[in-house]
Amino acid sequence: MRMRKLEHSFGLEFDEVDVNHITDQELDLARKAQNEHGVVFFREQEMSCEQHIEFASRWGDIVINRFFETVDGYPNIAQVRKEAKHSTVVGGSWHTDHSYDQIPAKGSILYAKEVPTSGGDTLFASMYLAYEALSDGLKQTLAGLTATHSSRHTFSKSAVTSCDPNEDRYLNSHLATQDAHHPVIITHPESGKKALYVNPDFTVKFDGWTESESAALLTHLYQHATRPEFTTRFKWRKGSIAFWDNRATWHQAQNDYPGERRLMHRITIEGAPLL
Ligand code: SIN
Repeated sequence: MRMRKLEHSFGLEFDEVDVNHITDQELDLARKAQNEHGVVFFREQEMSCEQHIEFASRWGDIVINRFFETVDGYPNIAQVRKEAKHSTVVGGSWHTDHSYDQIPAKGSILYAKEVPTSGGDTLFASMYLAYEALSDGLKQTLAGLTATHSSRHTFSKSAVTSCDPNEDRYLNSHLATQDAHHPVIITHPESGKKALYVNPDFTVKFDGWTESESAALLTHLYQHATRPEFTTRFKWRKGSIAFWDNRATWHQAQNDYPGERRLMHRITIEGAPLL
């Protein structure tokens, strides 16, 4: 297995490895790299659905996302799909998956089945780097805060149908009722590093503050966290895998390939309580 650091940014790419036959030693190396960098990539993979599940299971238990459509016959593999008719993409604004859950998912293994002729990249932002670059004063203020995260405004029926007239990709809007409260600065359960843990899609407000009081500071944090030096861009090829850690990164799918299809399979891995 060969490891390459992404130029000018964070994230590590592995090649010369077949994830279907990855050794325990290689997996350990990838695990350490992911803990350190927040996201790892694998190129030129050929995985069946069974192999995807087998690979995911070596990282932890699988969590089913109740809002995403799934692959026929595989309820634990979500489809991330854009057809020519769709005007929006799944995950098109900055977010970290499942922060609306009491125990947010560790991360997701996204596998490229079909990619457009150009575009369709995914951007990642490092919440380790964003945290480290905050002033000591702001770090201290944020250290005492928790925030409310919710699925309501993103996966409720009105939210999904108001954006795309051809929407047919989301399920269970009636289950978009979760609210969860998490520290604004977390200590990553595996790396022990501190990370900023609010995100534009799911964070509603700081606890004990109103939404409008929260808005100015959240907006500042969102602008700060997406500075170019904290972000990285992944260009997909068919067979690529991105495996990100939701406690250390945000991600955002690019919507820049109108009229083309993009199909990804996603398995999400269970996390641990956030402190
Ligand atoms: C997601 O947000 O899980 C999808 C990201 C992507 O399709 O690039």
